[in-house]
Amino acid sequence: MQTVTARAHTNIALVKYWGKKNQELILPYTNSLSLTLDVFYTDTSVQFDPLLETDQFLLNGENVTGKSLIKVQRFMDLIRSEANIAMPARIESTNHVPTAAGLASSASAFAALAAAGSRAAGLDLSLRDLSRLARRGSGSATRSIYGGFVEWERGDSDATSYAVPIQEQVDWDIQMIAILLNRHEKKVSSRSEMANDVATSPYYPAWIENAQTEVDTIKQAIAARDLNQVGQIAEQSAMRMHALTMSAVPPFTYFEPSTLQAIAKVQELRAQGLSCYYTMDAGPNVKVICSARETPQILAGLSTIFPKEQLTVAKPGPGIQYLPPQQ
Ligand code: PMV
Repeated sequence: MQTVTARAHTNIALVKYWGKKNQELILPYTNSLSLTLDVFYTDTSVQFDPLLETDQFLLNGENVTGKSLIKVQRFMDLIRSEANIAMPARIESTNHVPTAAGLASSASAFAALAAAGSRAAGLDLSLRDLSRLARRGSGSATRSIYGGFVEWERGDSDATSYAVPIQEQVDWDIQMIAILLNRHEKKVSSRSEMANDVATSPYYPAWIENAQTEVDTIKQAIAARDLNQVGQIAEQSAMRMHALTMSAVPPFTYFEPSTLQAIAKVQELRAQGLSCYYTMDAGPNVKVICSARETPQILAGLSTIFPKEQLTVAKPGPGIQYLPPQQ
């Protein structure tokens, strides 16, 4: 059967998703909203092959085994059952994202696998159905099917929980600077913690209650191309999400000392009149929301404490792409 290669870009949530009401289907309690980025992406090739005994998965040239392989095999089972085939597949992925360090590699990974896997199996899914499929691999992957600003509508079933594009072509000045503080795999997987502990925070009901207001307000801010308002809501949502981890039983945090240093620096630059705002996901790294116009000054400020190699500028990125077959 033919080999299909797809490219998906990561997305960073501005209004976060945190907590699932259905673990198996990955149905979230709340809507979330993200920006897809251009520089962090995953390329994945899939070929179904009747001669294989089992699925094979190469990530960055290395054979993957154990839990990570099982997660991918289960995902491939969803595709096989939809396409009504039984063959194993050869899967090769290259991650242009530091794996599992809070730069949302699972988002680009499962979006790329959904696209390449379904097409290699002979399915011709709509973008909506691709988004639903990607969701089964990782919640944040639901949004990586589209470029620009994307909302994940939580829905209440497999059929009704998918992403929708809010502004695919971002024609105004907004971007991010990723501060890579730690390349290592995170100690607490977002899957396990979200699965087990989220509802143990006494603040969780308030999180659910406020989420929709944040989504509605940020959509208005995006429509008005208002960087300051987008940034303020993003900071608020990020800090509220991290307050849930700190107030869970048992409590934990993704923050490291350098995370707080980065936050303080962003606040200092803002006090100097620059429009910059921070957000963090399930890892210590900090993403700074700002304009391209002010990026040189913000980079100069950040590089007083972080080496330049740790700072990556990312612009709004595109949705799913299929790549031509390799010669
Ligand atoms: O995609 P998951 O299931 O690993 O969840 C990650 C969720 C956050 O990145 C922390 C927030 C979000 O909305 O992307």
